Amino acid sequence: MFPTSRMRRLRQPKIRDLVRETELTHNDLIYPMFVGEGDAKPIEIKFMPGQFRYPLSMIADEAKAVAELGIPAIILFGIPSRKDEVGSSAYDSNGVIQKAIMAIKDELGDELLVITDVCLCEYMTHGHCGIVENKKILNDPTLELLAKTAVSHAQAGADIVAPSGMMDGMVDAIRTALEDGGFQDTLIMSYAVKYASSFYGPFREAAESGYAFGDRSTYQMDPANSDEALREVELDIAEGADIVMVKPALPYLDILYRVKSEFGVPTAAYSVSGEYAMLKAASQKGWLDEKAAVMESLLAIKRAGADMILTYFAKDAAEWLK
Ligand code: PBG
Repeated sequence: MFPTSRMRRLRQPKIRDLVRETELTHNDLIYPMFVGEGDAKPIEIKFMPGQFRYPLSMIADEAKAVAELGIPAIILFGIPSRKDEVGSSAYDSNGVIQKAIMAIKDELGDELLVITDVCLCEYMTHGHCGIVENKKILNDPTLELLAKTAVSHAQAGADIVAPSGMMDGMVDAIRTALEDGGFQDTLIMSYAVKYASSFYGPFREAAESGYAFGDRSTYQMDPANSDEALREVELDIAEGADIVMVKPALPYLDILYRVKSEFGVPTAAYSVSGEYAMLKAASQKGWLDEKAAVMESLLAIKRAGADMILTYFAKDAAEWLK
């Protein structure tokens, strides 16, 4: 009781550092990168100032710059030149992602972990994350294509594959295919808890993955639900996920906290395009101090339970942490 207990005693200079519970380091960061197959030069993403789509000819050099900042991993998204109804460019051994992985691995080898987003939406004419029949997104026929895509990424040299389509059984299908293909050391980072969120808007513009009809609510989660998130994670762990992800991050810190507390497995948080856009826009207007707001947000995500954070601010944060 006051005055014997004075919480402010712990907030004095240096003491404050001694008692700090959470620390953010460059080892916590994963940088998302976009590769445009048909692009000849970098294209700035309209709603994400400071973020670019890079052509294949530049991706290895850009990845090298990320590695030099001490960031351990990137996650790659591809914008293919050709889309169809079965997403065939997604599992083409000569596809945009496969070529990007090879270029990066040629340049950097083990110096940078390459994670790949495994989803079909960028590769489908209709922009949905699975095979479509009569305006329905079919689960089981999609699994085979996701498994083929993941194996082709592993073949090209990906260290971690990250299925993001929210199809039931996707982790099991991919794990089985990876084992059959001899890729027992390739990890799976599952987008286990992915909400149907409006915060993906800027990404869809960047990745040209907007959908032609409906929305993603028959496969991505309802933002109102929390218990359901735990069921998703439980299933993905049972199917063989090495790392589980919660996405988005900032509006879903309660979910992150529950997932980490309940399962204690390596947990990633994806601070998505809309979170970047919010912080960036307010900073550009002079309404927020960018560095302070970004570092506080990343720390909060870590404090809530994230072991690693996928963030478009990774390069800035790594600079600021120096
Ligand atoms: C692909 C995918 C999306 C994101 C990551 N992977 C878009 C979506 O589901 O519509 C969003 C990332 C972001 O907003 O930064 N399925």
